Amino acid sequence: MSAEPMGNSSFQHHEDLERVLFDQQAIRERVAEMGEAITADFAGREVVIIAVLQGGVLFLADLIREIDLPMKIDSISVASYHGGTESSGTVTFHQNHLPDVEGKKVIVLDDILDTGRTLAAIVDRLNREGRPESIHTAVLLSKRIERAMPIEADYFGFEVGDEFVVGYGLDYAGRYRNLPVVGVLKPEKIGTLS
Ligand code: IMP
Ligand code: MG
Repeated sequence: MSAEPMGNSSFQHHEDLERVLFDQQAIRERVAEMGEAITADFAGREVVIIAVLQGGVLFLADLIREIDLPMKIDSISVASYHGGTESSGTVTFHQNHLPDVEGKKVIVLDDILDTGRTLAAIVDRLNREGRPESIHTAVLLSKRIERAMPIEADYFGFEVGDEFVVGYGLDYAGRYRNLPVVGVLKPEKIGTLS
């Protein structure tokens, strides 16, 4: 334990970032705007917010406190990267049980929309097996790439280029999720973690 003041700048592993793209304040402000938009769009209705684990948990925790609506929260656990920096092309569901979404207005949250396979697979499965009233999607980041699946997020925080980013839920080999900022990992760090 140290007597450092509260804040992010003393995180040791910030040194592993080549550069910071979005700092805590930028993220906080943008998430607040997204919460306001969702509150206005779903006014008068209850929503079910489903976070994609693990990457969506920080976004979930921050966004739901900016949404002034009755809600339930739930989660769904999938993997598509299997540890590397390229989407593997297959989406594995870690559980058979799906959140109860029957007749509900559902918003699925993830950290980032990349190829689109993850969100497309989740939306498809919830629609087929869960009989929701509607499904919308929200991501903190949207990568500017050609998607493998025809899906765009209904709400996104920021656009990023086609580079590998970590922090605020996003990981490399399971690490860096706790960084309070989003940044680009130094290329020499890739391949060094197991
Ligand atoms: P998609 O299925 O290709 O759209 O990828 C979405 C999933 O891949 C997200 O849930 C993230 O976990 C992961 N992902 C995509 N791009 C990145 C990145 O730049 N850094 C870390 N994880 C990423
Ligand atoms: Mg993920």
